[in-house]
Amino acid sequence: MLPGSPYVAYRDARLHVEGCALDDLAARFGTPLYVYSRAAMLAALADYQRALAGREHLICYALKANSNLAVLQLFARAGCGFDIVSGGELERVIAAGGDPAKVVFSGVGKTRTEMRRALDAGVMCFNVESVAELEVLSQVATAAGATASVSLRVNPDVDPRTHPYISTGLKGNKFGIAHDEALAAYRRAASLPGLAVQGIDFHIGSQIVDTGPYLDALDRMLDLVESVEAAGIALHHLDLGGGLGITYTDERPPSAEALVGALLARIDERGHGKRRILLEPGRSLVGNAGVLVAEVLYLKPSAVRNFCIVDAAMNDLLRPAMYEAWMAIVPCAQRNTPAQTYDVVGPVCESGDWLGRERALAVEPGDRVAVLSAGAYAMSMASNYNTRGRAAEVMVSGTDARLIRDREQPHELFRGEHLL
Ligand code: LLP
Repeated sequence: MLPGSPYVAYRDARLHVEGCALDDLAARFGTPLYVYSRAAMLAALADYQRALAGREHLICYALKANSNLAVLQLFARAGCGFDIVSGGELERVIAAGGDPAKVVFSGVGKTRTEMRRALDAGVMCFNVESVAELEVLSQVATAAGATASVSLRVNPDVDPRTHPYISTGLKGNKFGIAHDEALAAYRRAASLPGLAVQGIDFHIGSQIVDTGPYLDALDRMLDLVESVEAAGIALHHLDLGGGLGITYTDERPPSAEALVGALLARIDERGHGKRRILLEPGRSLVGNAGVLVAEVLYLKPSAVRNFCIVDAAMNDLLRPAMYEAWMAIVPCAQRNTPAQTYDVVGPVCESGDWLGRERALAVEPGDRVAVLSAGAYAMSMASNYNTRGRAAEVMVSGTDARLIRDREQPHELFRGEHLL
């Protein structure tokens, strides 16, 4: 069994996503190639939906994880709202047919231009991260003759026990409003023109594999809800953020159903069961649904290490270089020859350009390999470093494969640049 998704599996020694062999897709669309399983994405969503059935809720997919328009369209049609963090993401949601009235706008550094555009588009709520932002949003809304619905992102100061770069709910992170300053911030919000307090939110980090930190954050948030309401400010929704982890290797995160079930049980226990629930999952909806296919260009043995040089690089998949993230790398066609240990690296001119270290692989030049669980924070973090065009993306459904993003061509990379 491969780690990750049941929709990615070997059949007759050939790696498939649903009913499509990756070698066939690579021959048809070229490499590097991102391939996503539609069924895996919908199954991940269904897991959340089951947990929330019968309760007033909105699942706001955090599109920073994978913002391809076809992915957004899939989730929009399945009833999702969206969690955005930029004006660019808002335009993507609109272009994909998403409903701005189901959008929450997060992020510590919203500009006035982004706020104005979001108000004009009619987003559901601004998740505000500082008192300074409240003041500016009030000015922008007043000038536009609009009312901005707001939720304050509180920083509960709990440790999500994940990579330091992706933990966000600890004192000393740039995110959210400190727990002990939140009541005063709500009072300020309630007093400012152009703002309507709607709810409260937290997001404590990403790739979280325990329920404990969520329950701690929730308890601290509910304490605050009680004191804010005692001050006469009504809160209509609780936004519990995203952050649920996936299996890259041997992680055993709770299922979405189990995690959300535990959170709802605590909410009910504390008498807050009538409130609308918002969630902002990203990785857990798309991460295991995707793979990155690359072709082996060269094998380069050396006295110290063997390198397997492939045509995908850190510009296509930054997570290993940036977080030392471990992502499985497997051949698209299994060979019966003995495996060798390789560092799998790309063509980019950086020693940090590696996709996996010390991996046992039986491969030859011309073979293809797949990096698993690459549906989240992979293509969405891709860059054009070394003037490399970004990879193509394909969505698979059964035996049907659709190109959902063209491979970027060199001339597109310098379009918009000017000679002196
Ligand atoms: N809501 C907010 C306010 C967020 O900042 C994030 C992610 C999410 C929701 C979705 O979190 P998720 O369910 O995907 O964990 N690039 C890193 C992950 C950065 C996450 C940033 N914020 C990685 O590749 O691991």
